[in-house]
Amino acid sequence: MLRVKKAVIPVAGLGTRFLPATKSIPKELVTIVDRPCIQYVVEEAMRAGIREIVFVNARHKEAIENHFDSNFEIEQTLLARGKKELAKQSSEVGEGAVFISVRQKNPLGLGHAILCAQPVVGNEPFAVLLGDDLMDSDPPCIGELLEVYERTGKSTVAVMEVPRDQVNKYGIVAPKGGLDGKVFEVASLVEKPNPEAAPSCWAIPGRYVLSSQVFESLKVQKAGALGEIQLTDSLDTLAKRGELLASVYQGRRYDAGDRLGYLEATLAFALKRPDLRAGIERLIRQAYSELEPS
Ligand code: G1P
Repeated sequence: MLRVKKAVIPVAGLGTRFLPATKSIPKELVTIVDRPCIQYVVEEAMRAGIREIVFVNARHKEAIENHFDSNFEIEQTLLARGKKELAKQSSEVGEGAVFISVRQKNPLGLGHAILCAQPVVGNEPFAVLLGDDLMDSDPPCIGELLEVYERTGKSTVAVMEVPRDQVNKYGIVAPKGGLDGKVFEVASLVEKPNPEAAPSCWAIPGRYVLSSQVFESLKVQKAGALGEIQLTDSLDTLAKRGELLASVYQGRRYDAGDRLGYLEATLAFALKRPDLRAGIERLIRQAYSELEPS
């Protein structure tokens, strides 16, 4: 079986959910504490042993690639001033991985973005991580999917249960049969169903390990929900052939593309930082004491 070496991360989106912040800054570079969102996602892939990161990018968003390159000017200036630790904080971003960038010329949907990576991925299995979803778990979410893929040889998506009134924000999977540990077979999928029509409340939180077969479906995939070429629809084709598994994710997940989800992630990640925890706790207590009793 071929090993998963590459992670595809689509970053071509306009980021309209986060305007005006994303007017001139890629949404992937909006910071959570002191590092851009995308760095958490890349580090999740690297913690799972992936060393080749493929960005599917668009015009005006080269700053994403630059973030993972060295910044000679900053680093040399800091070193010359004897500030080794600060220089290291800049130079170690993405160290140990190679970054490859392909362009998505037209915003035709997530499925189309993934297909743009085919010339780089070829016939290897690959991981997909969506940048709005920040996963906080040990082992990393994508690592759990890799483990299922390596054991079964089947494409695998992460799933988590969401309240029924939120299923219209996600790709939803219909299970076939029961759980085998944390894993079940997928019968079918639907992108952003109405709550009444959803086959279940198992939602995909933007983590996938896919066999290259998915490219064959994506090539002929017609536009689906929201008039876009949806990855979910091509995964439905794999599922109907009995070639898709779902693995239940039990860690924390934050939707960093949503204002409240972003603030939640900021607080959660700040609280995990030993240098910030005491200060954040103080701020939370202060804010709480200033709340009007409800
Ligand atoms: C995308 C996918 C959807 C998935 C979601 C996770 O939707 O199309 O299937 O559940 O990411 O965040 P988006 O949030 O980009 O509209």
